[in-house]
Amino acid sequence: MKVAVFGASGLLGSAVSQSVVRRGHLLYPYSNVSPTVHSGGQRCEALSLENDEQLTRELFDQWPDAIVNCAAVSSPDAVNLFPEKAKLVNVVGAHRLASIASHIGARFIHISTDMVFDGKNSPYRSTDVPNPLSEYGKQKLEAEKKVLSVNEENIVVLRITLINGNSPSGKRSQHEKILRGLAEQKTLTFFDDEIRQPCSSENTSDAVVELLERPQLNGLFHWAGSEEVSRYELAIRILRHFGINSEKIIRGSVQTASAELGERPNHLSFILEPLSSKLCVQPLSIEEQIQQLKIPLDMYSWYRKFADCPSSYVHRF
Ligand SMILES: NC(=O)c1ccc[n+]([C@@H]2O[C@H](COP(=O)([O-])OP(=O)(O)OC[C@H]3O[C@@H](n4cnc5c(N)ncnc54)[C@H](OP(=O)(O)O)[C@@H]3O)[C@@H](O)[C@H]2O)c1
Repeated sequence: MKVAVFGASGLLGSAVSQSVVRRGHLLYPYSNVSPTVHSGGQRCEALSLENDEQLTRELFDQWPDAIVNCAAVSSPDAVNLFPEKAKLVNVVGAHRLASIASHIGARFIHISTDMVFDGKNSPYRSTDVPNPLSEYGKQKLEAEKKVLSVNEENIVVLRITLINGNSPSGKRSQHEKILRGLAEQKTLTFFDDEIRQPCSSENTSDAVVELLERPQLNGLFHWAGSEEVSRYELAIRILRHFGINSEKIIRGSVQTASAELGERPNHLSFILEPLSSKLCVQPLSIEEQIQQLKIPLDMYSWYRKFADCPSSYVHRF
């Protein structure tokens, strides 16, 4: 298949690009402004989802068999800062891509989030009624509805959870943010009563590519790892993987957090059926996900000096 991946310079999109190539498909990777980042061994082409004319022309020229949309303004804080601008990508751009995919008969996979739920009734099935608390969650839910209204066939909306993985920029995933925070001597607080069910970018990408190859699976699905964990416990386990003492972070509670953080879903987890019993790819445990995490290359010399036990971590290039 010719597979166009949008958001290919990001945390998930870069892993999807690698899975696409690994499975022997032809990759067309796109980013917004990161043309130099290589994904799946290829250079991403800069193409904004906001540019209707250019987007349509490029996809009509390339006529891919499948399109994966990992592009988004994925940080809730960034969405709060410029909600209308974010909407152009998260909602309008996603809808535009779905419409073009339908027009050219391409299979379309769109990535959404657990943040469409309020976290009061976990674990959630894909048939449960969403109730997003944040502007980011609201935009992602609106996009889901618009994308799924385009076509009943050849379309998947895959809701995923907090992603563990290695991003091309080395700045986008949990462990990368923790390491950079420590390097900048920031005070890092993680809540022990905020529960998530993280997924791995590599494992999720394999699930995405299997969905590309299984055209009989259509509609809205949930994907995550196999276990729940608090944000604090996840941070501790990440630090342990890198041989860094857990005293370097602070244990906090949502109950006593500053009101500035806004209302957050306390407990987000998914029921992975029916998808997990239909796919060959299976969800990973927290430990399996953590084993895949690497030190960003530009942080390596800092890390060797900073870690309490750097020899406990073996960097695989
Ligand atoms: N990260 C998580 O923990 C998480 C959890 C649940 C769901 N998700 C969802 O998973 C998907 C991927 O998230 P991620 O964390 O991998 O995102 P990410 O690392 O922030 O990457 C976002 C990607 O979108 C591209 N992009 C941004 N604006 C664009 C525009 N106007 N036109 C075209 N491309 C644009 C970026 O390109 P540049 O690099 O050029 O800016 C980048 O490639 C998103 O749908 C997100 O909502 C993420």
